[in-house]
Amino acid sequence: MRMDVKTLQRSLDEAGQSHLLQFWGELSDTQRSHLLEELQGLHLQELNGFFHRAMDGFSASSTQEKVDARMEAVPRDVLGSFTRDREHLKDWEAEGFTHIAHGKVAVLLLAGGQGTRLGVTYPKGMYDVGLPSHKSLFQIQAERILKLQRLAKEKHGKDCIIPWYIMTSGRTMESTREFFQKHRNFGLSEENIILFQQGMLPAMSFDGKILMEEKGKLSMAPDGNGGLYRALGAHGILKDMERRGIEYIHVYCVDNILVKVADPVFIGFCVAKEADCGAKVVEKMNPTEPVGVVCRVDGVYQVVEYSEITLATAQKRSPDGRLMYNAGNIANHYFTRKFLQQVVEVHEPQLQHHVAVKKIPHVDTQGSLVHPEKPNGIKMEKFVFDIFQFAKKFVVFEVLREEEFSPLKNADSQNGKDNPSTARHALMSLHHCWVLNAGGHFVDENGTRIPAIPLMKDAGDLPIQCEISPLVSYAGEGLEPYVQGQEFHAPLTIDESGVHQAVRNGVHP
Ligand code: UTP
Repeated sequence: MRMDVKTLQRSLDEAGQSHLLQFWGELSDTQRSHLLEELQGLHLQELNGFFHRAMDGFSASSTQEKVDARMEAVPRDVLGSFTRDREHLKDWEAEGFTHIAHGKVAVLLLAGGQGTRLGVTYPKGMYDVGLPSHKSLFQIQAERILKLQRLAKEKHGKDCIIPWYIMTSGRTMESTREFFQKHRNFGLSEENIILFQQGMLPAMSFDGKILMEEKGKLSMAPDGNGGLYRALGAHGILKDMERRGIEYIHVYCVDNILVKVADPVFIGFCVAKEADCGAKVVEKMNPTEPVGVVCRVDGVYQVVEYSEITLATAQKRSPDGRLMYNAGNIANHYFTRKFLQQVVEVHEPQLQHHVAVKKIPHVDTQGSLVHPEKPNGIKMEKFVFDIFQFAKKFVVFEVLREEEFSPLKNADSQNGKDNPSTARHALMSLHHCWVLNAGGHFVDENGTRIPAIPLMKDAGDLPIQCEISPLVSYAGEGLEPYVQGQEFHAPLTIDESGVHQAVRNGVHP
């Protein structure tokens, strides 16, 4: 042990990180072995290399001109649209279902984030946004997978499996695993849920010193959702996919309550276009909405952040009145396994980390914990969309925000955007529409029909309480037998045991 520490001290000295053992003398045996383990897991030279490349890229980007002049919107020939290509949707859906039925489709969930803005101590996927069923995000996604497997079986007459790969991090792995075990994998088979862990990197000061969260603990954070590509290689995930015969992969984020996991229409569209990489997008709402847009820069696809363009470019409109750069990225992607293979083998090591400048709590040289008031360091992250540039055939699929995108980012108390209430309301409003589309109606306490589009007079107005289990309907299909020609009192829930609605005067209407 003593020898180990000496060797370690030497390599820390060489890497300019000797401060990490500054408090060694004050640590308990357990703290010491913890710290040793953390330090031995670091590749110091590689880490210093990451830091310098990331910082160089960061300072170059801050002096670089805006990318406006080099930018082009997504051309129509690589763009599919849920609203503008209605005549093709059925074909794309059928194509998608064929691949699902033949066991060629997998879903890959990015769930390694820390959810700092939401502020809970457990993984975001375990969060209950307060739906009548109190289902967690994980459960909603699991049930959508189950339902799709059933729909594919109905259409093709054979059992099929959509394997679910879940990327966690050192901070979310154990609790995610326990949660799935506790809930018996929500009805899915354990062997088809594959958890793997992404890498972690330490936070660094602006001069490249690793920051410590405690005297015996480094300040570690997951290496961004683009840490996926390194993790895929490190854990043999692509091999596992190959063994299972997977060809097409849908990658998505844990926090979108409306996500259509393994959406057959999106998969079918990408396969039909012979794409190796695809992005689902929603229309950017207004020029200043802080959302990244998918576009080409110097002929190469990428996501351009709002801060990288001028307001004048953000405001540009096409002749049809839409924003010219309107393909809002929702981190919802399609990749072929072969493309991912190439990324892992060839391109991943060349990707440099992005710099996120942060206020990072840390132990100072005196051993006191400091909560800085201004940014004091950086976290290094890769992004899942960093690999668009390597695609040979890149396509974009535009969908409706109210049907497919409502992310859970913030706590309810913080602001009115992307929080548990907006997520809950988005899901219930969508399910309300499904009931109306299937020929059902809602009535108020006097028995009067509620208008199809309820008037939301102010922000405090609530949507109709309506929740449909994914096990009953994946995307609004198959609801007629439950609702057609019927009137309902909210709250209405429809699950496999039937239709449940509010009790009026002591009896179920
Ligand atoms: P966000 O960038 O919104 O981060 O992640 P977050 O961790 O959920 O929340 P904040 O920023 O700490 O408040 C978008 C998606 O990428 C995943 C998240 O789990 C989420 O699904 N992610 C993020 C990872 O898988 N790994 C990471 O290192 C970061």
